[in-house]
Amino acid sequence: MIQEIDKYLEEVKSFETKDLKELENFRIKFLGKKGILNQLFAEFKNVPNEEKKLFGQKINQLKQVATGKVQSIKENLENNLEEQGSQLDLSRPGYPVEIGSRHPISIVKNQIIEIFKNIGFNVSEGPEIEDDWHNFTALNLPEYHPARDMQDTFFLQQNPDWLLRTHTSSVQTRYMETHQPPIRTISPGRVYRNEDISARSHCIFHQVEGLYIDKGVSFADLKQTLLYFTKEMFGKSKIRLRPSYFPFTEPSAEVDIYWGLETETDKRITKGTGWLEIMGAGMVDPNVLQNMNIDPEEYTGFAFGMGIERIAMLLYQIQDIRMFYENDMRFLSQFKPII
Ligand code: DAH
Repeated sequence: MIQEIDKYLEEVKSFETKDLKELENFRIKFLGKKGILNQLFAEFKNVPNEEKKLFGQKINQLKQVATGKVQSIKENLENNLEEQGSQLDLSRPGYPVEIGSRHPISIVKNQIIEIFKNIGFNVSEGPEIEDDWHNFTALNLPEYHPARDMQDTFFLQQNPDWLLRTHTSSVQTRYMETHQPPIRTISPGRVYRNEDISARSHCIFHQVEGLYIDKGVSFADLKQTLLYFTKEMFGKSKIRLRPSYFPFTEPSAEVDIYWGLETETDKRITKGTGWLEIMGAGMVDPNVLQNMNIDPEEYTGFAFGMGIERIAMLLYQIQDIRMFYENDMRFLSQFKPII
């Protein structure tokens, strides 16, 4: 009996084929329902007790070797066939490719760009490592101007004339350097401030700057442009401009939108007033135009600047600004897929 199994073992070990059909016959012969192995297992009860242990080991070995053999020949043959392309199965499911999603900051940024593009604004960019002139001085913020303290600045150690831009208003000055009016541009980008990180503020965030310079641009144009933007962006059609101060605009305003007081969330985020501040704006200060060699007697303009995180937090009801930078897939995958 044992000898018989050894003989089968030899047969199985030396079996080779390049034909799937032959392989199937081999499988049925050894591993099929009425195959050799099942017959041997059935034989087990008739084996004398002292031989049972060895017999058991042998048939288990035979089973293992036969199963392994079938498997490996099958894989080999299939791989070969697939390489040759003769058995390419186009109906097989594809490899799972996960569809990504846009980062919420990108979604909101693109939306803002789209809205302003529709009224003739182009998109411009500037460097994140900026010099003092473009970030401060040219924007009517000369050295020792107290308003410089409004924005805690990261200076570069090697050269204190260089800094990480504190706002995208620096792109205004870069743009005016190389372009003559009429100017209609928006500048999205990353900005840096030396601030403690909390749920409300971060040392890195994003802004979009807007600049419009031409003959006869008035405060009414600014107001109408912002109203158009808030309607498109938030579907809200009531805004108010509160007098404020920015060194680069005169007059300056803070822009609020009327968010409403319908839900508990509305009440919470507007602190019970219904109003939400969304950006700073104003008429470009004549000093800024002069600094950039644009004649303030001939041209006027308006500018505005807003934080993208703030808008994304409002639109998606995100409570903690740090979520944007933590690369947590559970957070990021909630935003709409690209397609
Ligand atoms: N740069 C300002 C800030 O970062 C935002 C701003 C306010 C930009 C008024 C403007 C403006 O262009 O006119 O706080």
